[in-house]
Amino acid sequence: MKIEDIKRICVVGAGNMGHQISLCAVLAGYQVKCYDVNPDVLVKANTSSHKYLADRVSKGKLTQEQADQALAKLMFTQSIGEAVSDADFVIEAAIEMLEVKRQLFKEIDSLVPTHTILATNSSTLVSSLIADVTRRPEKVCNMHFFNPVLVMKLVEVVQGPHTSDETAAITMELCSKLGKICILLKKEIQGFLVNRILRALAQEALYLSDMKVATPKDIDLAVENALGHPMGPFRLMDLTGIDVSYHISMERYRASGDPKDKPSPIIVEKFCRKEWGKKTKRGFYIY
Ligand code: 3HC
Repeated sequence: MKIEDIKRICVVGAGNMGHQISLCAVLAGYQVKCYDVNPDVLVKANTSSHKYLADRVSKGKLTQEQADQALAKLMFTQSIGEAVSDADFVIEAAIEMLEVKRQLFKEIDSLVPTHTILATNSSTLVSSLIADVTRRPEKVCNMHFFNPVLVMKLVEVVQGPHTSDETAAITMELCSKLGKICILLKKEIQGFLVNRILRALAQEALYLSDMKVATPKDIDLAVENALGHPMGPFRLMDLTGIDVSYHISMERYRASGDPKDKPSPIIVEKFCRKEWGKKTKRGFYIY
């Protein structure tokens, strides 16, 4: 298979990441079907996509014709069969729970053509934890985008021991077609590269806040103004979703059994209160 053979992309999951990945792909000229099990999420994704494209036109970053062409290539659907049956490349961006992803990959594998590559946008789970439920482990890999996908340039591609060189190479080429800068991890490691670095920073920030050394706002101000990060760790957790931070830590804890990997008390508290950040209008900050 060659990169030119990829014409239709399916994105599984229409949440924050999934619908932005879909938009990236239609703007790069691909035909995209974006599937979600939840109709409310699909409606929200559709509304955000229209709004994003309209904003780009009013900012002069896209012509009306380009926006219309992008919308014509984008379809949201609640039918997984319709979404994946003619896809050449599937990017899964569902909830960060291993069992959900394994179930989805099993179902997708049974519905897609034999040539189709299956990539997961998981933030932390390596694809060898998933590939064994498919009949095509050599066509399974990680393809990890960053939030907000339409702005952040990097994508991490992770080649597991089961992933063929061809799959890794095509996935890297697809990232370039989407206008991204991609890096290849030749070895699987939980959390990959960026989230491991980010986690070290967030853990320390949560520790300092738990110890009442400083408020989340002041810790953010310190990181933004002394280290030059565009956002401090608390503002960033609000952007990426405190629910996502919670699930990532829980998956890590399940895998390691190490109590140090449990989500910090403030993350558990905010997760239970549904204060998940920007998406629920309340997290470490109020929106
Ligand atoms: N969606 C789409 N576009 C967005 C956006 C969003 N949510 N937020 C901002 N933008 C666009 C704006 O439209 C604007 O575009 P333009 O320059 O072409 O007009 C551009 O980004 C800059 O936006 P603003 O001027 O409003 O705001 P900032 O300059 O403060 O930038 C930011 C916002 C890009 C989010 C910046 O603060 C940033 O880079 N923050 C850090 C983000 C980060 O670290 N991401 C990685 C998170 S880790 C992760 O994703 C891992 C995963 O596994 C959880």
